[in-house]
Amino acid sequence: MKRQTILTYLFASLLMMTGTLNHTYAQNNKNSVIKSGTEWLDTNGHRINAHGGGMLYHKGTYYWYGEYKGDSTYWNPKVPSWECYRTEAGGVSCYSSKDLVNWTFRGVVLAPDLTNQRSDLHPSNVIERPKVVYNDRTHQFVMWMHIDSDNYAKAAAGVAVSNSPAGPFKYLGSMRPNNAMSRDMTLFRDKNGKAYQICSSEENRTLYINELTDDYLKPSGRFTRNFINLSREAPAVFFHNGKYFLISSACSGWSPNQAQYAVADSMMGVWTIKGNPCSGKDADITFYGQSNYVLPIAGKKDAFIAMFDRWNKKDLINSRYIWLPILFKSNNVIDIPWQESWNPSIAFRRVN
Ligand code: GAL
Repeated sequence: MKRQTILTYLFASLLMMTGTLNHTYAQNNKNSVIKSGTEWLDTNGHRINAHGGGMLYHKGTYYWYGEYKGDSTYWNPKVPSWECYRTEAGGVSCYSSKDLVNWTFRGVVLAPDLTNQRSDLHPSNVIERPKVVYNDRTHQFVMWMHIDSDNYAKAAAGVAVSNSPAGPFKYLGSMRPNNAMSRDMTLFRDKNGKAYQICSSEENRTLYINELTDDYLKPSGRFTRNFINLSREAPAVFFHNGKYFLISSACSGWSPNQAQYAVADSMMGVWTIKGNPCSGKDADITFYGQSNYVLPIAGKKDAFIAMFDRWNKKDLINSRYIWLPILFKSNNVIDIPWQESWNPSIAFRRVN
């Protein structure tokens, strides 16, 4: 055999072996339960790196988007007033799954900008809490995220679009919605197709609900100020049985605090505070977690997963995930009890 042919053959065999190994890994290590707070591996055996995440269900597949954190955590001297530990912002990662327990890495779908120091997406800046919704008028997947400068002074929201759920996403830029600050945020797409960006504003003291334009790329100009001066962060919104629910955390940086939920008849408010949705061991500090998203299970009645990050502030890439089913006690009362582990295909019978 010619040298080049031998090399090509060796390279192809290596690729096949890695493929087989990955395949074997996935086969031998199929997950069936969700074990909150433990290390979660993807189908290739690598630690899942998708923090402050958001979910999208599209054509039978769940997509999980999150902060792709850099390896090392350091204390940020530019923010002396609070424990501002940070990592390099590595863009937004995406994982996909059909059963919610076995997740395949689909890559970094919004890439960081490694060269331009002034770019929002430069690793020295902050890219947090990405969320994606699908727009069926424009057929685009629209991502919104918290964009900040390394000293958290920019307080803005960034927007990116893609024609496919697994990216790549094209970054369109950032703004302060309705000329107000925007830090911790989520997106919510209502059943009538209207979408909203919900964010901590006014130095995190007041939560804004910003209605978006029909293409979901900008604020429409309609907004409400909610939980005024109550300093709510980490919003996660869902709709159940005619009511809108909003779970949030208090404002204590990476350290856990007590969650709270509120209920409304309309997305723009008025919101009525109900109290702590969590119960069981460590429920007073959200099981050492902080809310990031609530996922409705496609086609299932009363089936929702509350998702939290358990931050490891001195080693942020090693933060863990907490996913728990939501129980509905009455029309506007929920309970999220701690469970060591649970099986979504039993809890929700079939997940898709
Ligand atoms: C939290 C916030 C996180 C991150 C962190 C930085 O309060 O929810 O997303 O921004 O502060 O300390």
